[in-house]
This record gives sequence, C-alpha cells and structure tokens, in this order.
Amino acid sequence: MTFQGKTHPMARRRQIYEGKAKILYEGPEPGTLIQYFKDDATAFNAQKKGTINGKGVLNNRISEHVFTLLAGIGIPTHFIRRLNMREQLIRQVEIVPIEVVVRNVVAGSLAKKLGIEEGTPLPRTIIEYYYKDDALGDPLVTDEHILCFGWASQEELHDMADMAIRVNDFLSGLFAGIGIRLVDFKLEFGRIWDNDYSRIILADEISPDGCRLWDMTTGEKLDKDRFRRDLGGEVEAYQEVARRLGLFPEGEDSAVLDLESHRKRRGK
Ligand SMILES: Nc1ncnc2c1ncn2[C@@H]1O[C@H](COP(=O)(O)OP(=O)(O)OP(=O)(O)O)[C@@H](O)[C@H]1O
Ligand SMILES: [Mg+2]
Repeated sequence: MTFQGKTHPMARRRQIYEGKAKILYEGPEPGTLIQYFKDDATAFNAQKKGTINGKGVLNNRISEHVFTLLAGIGIPTHFIRRLNMREQLIRQVEIVPIEVVVRNVVAGSLAKKLGIEEGTPLPRTIIEYYYKDDALGDPLVTDEHILCFGWASQEELHDMADMAIRVNDFLSGLFAGIGIRLVDFKLEFGRIWDNDYSRIILADEISPDGCRLWDMTTGEKLDKDRFRRDLGGEVEAYQEVARRLGLFPEGEDSAVLDLESHRKRRGK
C-alpha cells in the first residue's frame, strides 16, 4: 500500500488490486471499478523500478482520450468516465490472461530475439500473444497454447485479434496525423458476463507505457523506452504525446504537473 490512513483522500475505498502502474478500487456500483494511475514505472519484468513524476496524470488523460475515440469507431471498452486527474471509472471485467501485442515496425524483444535491426518496417502487421504471469516473465505463447490451456476460446481469440487490428489501423492513422509512428503496442482484454454469456471488451490502458511511439521526422522515442534505456526526459516525452493529441490547451500542461509535484512535495 502506497497510501495510508488520512493522507489519502480515497482511503475509505476498498482496494481490489495494486499492480505496478495502477491501483484498482471498488467502484460506486456493482460491476464497476476505479482505476488509479500511479507514477511508478517498471521495466524488464519489474527488475528495473523508478518513478516518473506526473506520468499517472498523463496516462490517465491519454488513455481516456484514446478509449473514447475507439468507442467512437465501435470498439467496446471498459472505460466509463474520468473522475479526476489520476482516476477513471471503468467496468469490471474478468481479465483474459493474455497480452496482445501488435507490431508494425521491428523493435524491442523482436529485434533482439531475431537479430533484426530496430526500425525495420514489417511487410505485414504481426500479432503476438504473451501469457500474463510475472513469475514466468510473461512468456510468448501461440494460439495453440491459449486454446489448449483454456485461457481464451477460439471465438474470443478471434474477437481479440480482430479488435487489435482495428485498434492498430485507427491508432496508426491517429498518430501519423500528429507526426508519430506507432511502432508497436500492447492491449489487454476482458470478459463481461451477462448471465451465461460473455463478450470480450478492451480493458486496461493505452498510453506511452505500453506503446512504442517514435517521432516521424527525428525518430525520437516518446514512450517508456526512455525509461527502459535511461534516455531521460520521460515526462517531457509523455507530455509531448498528450500535447500533440490536443489534450493540454496552451499553458495548462505545466499547471497540471506543477500542481502534482507541489502535492508530492507536501507529501499528500
Ligand atoms: N476493467 C478491468 N477489470 C479488472 N481488471 C482490470 C481491468 N482493466 C485492467 N485490469 C487489470 O488491472 C491491473 C492494472 O494494474 P497494473 O497495470 O499496474 O498491473 P501490472 O503491474 O501491469 O500487473 P499485471 O501483471 O497484473 O497486469 C492489471 O492486472 C490489469 O490486467
Ligand atoms: Mg499493466
């Protein structure tokens, strides 16, 4: 627990789960949760840990924006509404224990594993699945494993892949329009139950924590690789993504982050 007793304004809410980047609290109604975005950053299966001041505020805002746009093109998502600078109300889902990674350009583990230079464009989009298990280091798995071990059904797998491609097409265009190359990204999905039937919706977050975003002209990294690779300027990079998405009107960005760091200094 990061927050204790009176110092945390929402201390009376029941905490459901604390992850590496977010905390889930019980929501105001059954079937809802509150997703709190922390400033904590981890990399390489949490072997590297740190803090990026203001990251939670930016990711909350960026994810809200992206999920709202995706809902607009018919992608069902868990997002209901943003509550404040660090929290959003979401629908509670049963998380499918698979991270769906979509790649347009070779980078990260793919570059390393196959010895292909980072930045090599892929002739076709690749979808990869990773089994969500920290103890195992989230291993790469195939659809055979997913079906064999019952992590998702054939139909669910199809729905997830289908949505992942739609999200990729939409986001690639959105980011290209603001001079950013969507290199790759990670999605998480969950089940919503309606009596005996369930359907798959998009869950978790979409933010520079789980995307590779490169400036189209300079190649500059505007994502968590700045933290992974000790490049510095993490907040500025996340802020730049938010700014280009039009999320902070003139001057407001610094105001929001100043307020946050002010709070931090006062230990609130
Ligand atoms: N709508 C939702 N309902 C229930 N759980 C969700 C929902 N959206 C996301 N989650 C889960 O909430 C957690 C968010 O916390 P965070 O991203 O910090 O976790 P994490 O450290 O990445 O750990 P994990 O390995 O569990 O994903 C994740 O476990 C994610 O799968
Ligand atoms: Mg996570």
